[in-house]
Amino acid sequence: MMKVTVSRKAHFNAAHKLYRSDWTDEKNKQIFGKCSNKNFHGHNYELIVSLTGQVDPDTGYVFDIGKLKNIIKSEIEDYLDHKNLNLDIEEFSSLNPSAENIAILIYDRLIKYFKEKYKLKVVLYETPRNFVEYSG
Ligand code: NI
Repeated sequence: MMKVTVSRKAHFNAAHKLYRSDWTDEKNKQIFGKCSNKNFHGHNYELIVSLTGQVDPDTGYVFDIGKLKNIIKSEIEDYLDHKNLNLDIEEFSSLNPSAENIAILIYDRLIKYFKEKYKLKVVLYETPRNFVEYSG
């Protein structure tokens, strides 16, 4: 059978800073640059969630995109949109909310819906030019 990848784009806005309190301000600035700004800053995150799997011969679908949209809405957008990632999201209370770590969190929240039958991939744009990819 044929394997096809279906993808859904989503969007959320969130604030963060990249900072280690066990480092000096100078070292934080040196390592994290502008993202270390103590008073936080926002990003317009663009997310692409992809599922690779067999085409169901009955429906012609790999996965119902409407269902995928609802899963992303409830698990990711409702959880992260308009949040301060450092302060509001438990996972980032002691972990830097870098694009890499956000992509892993998104994957971990979604994978339970797609185990076994599908290969899940998360692409997260922090800026139009900077993006990360995680697929487990
Ligand atoms: Ni940033």
